Amino acid sequence: MFVFKAAVVGAGVMGGEIAQVIAAADIPVLLKDVDQKFVDAGLEKAREVTESQVGKLVEREKLTAAAGRAQIDRTLGLIGGGTGYDGFGDVDFVIEAVPERMDLKHAVFAELDAVTPGHAVLASNTSGLSITEIGDATNRPDKVVGFHFFWPASVMRLIEVVEGEETSAETIQAAANFAQAIRKMPIRCAECPGFVVNRILSSTAAEIWRYQDETGLDPEALDEHITQAAGMPMGPFRVADMSGLDTVVKVARDMRDAYGDRFYVHKAMEALVERGDLGAKSGKGFYEHS
Ligand SMILES: NC(=O)c1ccc[n+]([C@@H]2O[C@H](COP(=O)([O-])OP(=O)(O)OC[C@H]3O[C@@H](n4cnc5c(N)ncnc54)[C@H](O)[C@@H]3O)[C@@H](O)[C@H]2O)c1
Repeated sequence: MFVFKAAVVGAGVMGGEIAQVIAAADIPVLLKDVDQKFVDAGLEKAREVTESQVGKLVEREKLTAAAGRAQIDRTLGLIGGGTGYDGFGDVDFVIEAVPERMDLKHAVFAELDAVTPGHAVLASNTSGLSITEIGDATNRPDKVVGFHFFWPASVMRLIEVVEGEETSAETIQAAANFAQAIRKMPIRCAECPGFVVNRILSSTAAEIWRYQDETGLDPEALDEHITQAAGMPMGPFRVADMSGLDTVVKVARDMRDAYGDRFYVHKAMEALVERGDLGAKSGKGFYEHS
């Protein structure tokens, strides 16, 4: 199946950049959220990323300034935004990126089932919820698949293509093809909490979180030691802030519920979320964000 037009539902930390990735591959894409201010923020993120990517090409003299400007206009012109399902009648591939809650996923998938053409693949960017259960909200569970990007979506190349019990072989193939068309690297995963990457990543992060809760060491200082010692671009507390602490806590709790106490949930992070300090998206988390 060729994807002539795509859509992204949920324009938060992930959605805006996912729409940008699709448009940068010359595929028209719609970005939908429940409120225009979230759509606008997603479109602004897509603009920032596009300008930065193209700006680097112009700096390296791979593109002239005029060609760069034209490329930015073309990419951004391929992204449409709104709060309704206008234009979803001829999409081929939809990626849902709403908060990690099964009730929300069910509501969105039931709506998508009603407004998209029968052949369209309905994909979820869930970090670990059951694709089979998400597919239950539709009349086409064979066309429901996990399509898990990593933050930041415009940079990270991996996509986990996750197979639910009902997902057809054609859908898995279509998802893997689409991942390649948007210049990503798909890996096929079985359905289990955390899939592959979060299962590995969360167990490492869990030990650092446990250590911080036990010692009370400054998260910023720990981040600095870890980035220096391991040569990582960002420490785990900053990554959590950028990803959204509500999402990170939800995923950590799901992992603990599925696999037991070896997946630790950071108490200080839970306290921040309770206070509404969600990291970069709310302006404050372990760090202050302008
Ligand atoms: N943040 C990350 O690092 C990350 C990485 C990979 C996967 N994910 C997954 O991606 C999904 C989205 O995460 P996020 O961090 O972007 O969340 P987010 O909270 O930043 O954004 C979610 C957006 O969805 C919107 N929304 C809620 N209900 C909606 C509806 N019915 N229709 C349309 N939009 C709706 C919200 O208004 C919000 O703008 C989650 O399943 C999460 O587990 C997140």
